[in-house]
Amino acid sequence: MAAYKMELTAEQQAILDGQKGETLAKVMKTLIMYGEAFGATKMVPVTGEKGHLVTSFGLKAMTAVYELMDQLIEAGAISQQNFSVDPKPLDPNVPANFLENFVFKNFMYTRQNSYDKQLEKLGLLHKDAYTCACYLDEVGNTPKKGEVLSWAESSAVVYANSVLGARCNRNSGIIDIFGSILGYVPYFGLLTDEGRKATWIIDIQTKEIPEAQVLGSAIGMKVMEEVPYIKGLDRFIGTELNGDNKAYLKDFGAATASNGAVGLYHIENLTPEAKEQGDALIAEGAQVYVIDDAELKRVKDNYPVIWKNPDAKPKLCFIGCPHLTYDQLVDWTEKVEKKLKENGRKKVSIPTVFTAPPAVKEAFEKTDYAARLKATGVILSYICPLMYMNNPICGKKPVITNSNKLRTYTTARYYTNAEILDYITKEVQ
Ligand code: F3S
Repeated sequence: MAAYKMELTAEQQAILDGQKGETLAKVMKTLIMYGEAFGATKMVPVTGEKGHLVTSFGLKAMTAVYELMDQLIEAGAISQQNFSVDPKPLDPNVPANFLENFVFKNFMYTRQNSYDKQLEKLGLLHKDAYTCACYLDEVGNTPKKGEVLSWAESSAVVYANSVLGARCNRNSGIIDIFGSILGYVPYFGLLTDEGRKATWIIDIQTKEIPEAQVLGSAIGMKVMEEVPYIKGLDRFIGTELNGDNKAYLKDFGAATASNGAVGLYHIENLTPEAKEQGDALIAEGAQVYVIDDAELKRVKDNYPVIWKNPDAKPKLCFIGCPHLTYDQLVDWTEKVEKKLKENGRKKVSIPTVFTAPPAVKEAFEKTDYAARLKATGVILSYICPLMYMNNPICGKKPVITNSNKLRTYTTARYYTNAEILDYITKEVQ
């Protein structure tokens, strides 16, 4: 047996030695090798009740993944936990022309149905558990403070670590399901007290509340994978967690994680560990980054525009990456209605899609707001906009978004919430 440096318990060693079958032994070996690459010295139990998988799409090219899933199912290596999974890549309600649909169905997500079935067999929480915002109440996968997780979706990992105080590394796809199946993950990085200390102090000096997605982008690009301790933001978003600031932190965190590689941030006087430990969370020699209005403008002005024709009229607008909360849906509905009225219009001028978890969408559709939103022409979907934009033909379209994650990974052009609202509610030249 290969000599691993990691100290294993008798039970872990038995799994590695194949006493629970060859497949689980391979899963254990993979996680040990992964952990040792990051200097882990032991494996610790996954204590979070539920898992979350980043790979939700049945992409034609992922044959190796489907074979692996089949192997796991056949070997009875079913996840010890139920799990949610990232959003689905397709929704017939989202506008796509004949050619785009042809590519989706014949060249891209050809394995969606069979992959969905594999996920069910492996332990999918429920048929609607497809969303990156799995931690929202309606979805039912909200980890508790201190719980150890085996997740990979970057926007969910940063939220779970920072806002909920759970402990999870920025794993990759497949590693997430391996941890869920085994019930153990290697102990390193954000699982340790030392790894959760901040090596950057962010000093917010803006005059008004910063745009969440631009602030997250600025911090992400500066600190990359390090941990920032953010001072001065509680002036604007308060010192107690509530629906509004949690939605703000969801969007902010997704931008830190995608524009950089942040897996954990602390907000002074607000997030759980910062409230408990204060400045003691800041590592010795931490660097300082001052953010004022001019800095945020500089960051935003530097986003490249990669449309073929930068003056093109947008053909589509996506709002909700990460997925919107119920309150965000209500807020956007009211704002779109009000602005349309002011502009003397009845419907949005650009095809616009709001995206939300299926369970949030369902709750919203039971209210009067659903008909009001529909009347504005906005489409409500459970899709992942990134999966849509990965279609090479869709990627050529001028698409606008308020998501800095979508901007980073696709050709979509970023606008602030206020700019987007203005854009979709007035006549576009
Ligand atoms: Fe969620 Fe897809 Fe955006 S997973 S964060 S909607 S890229």
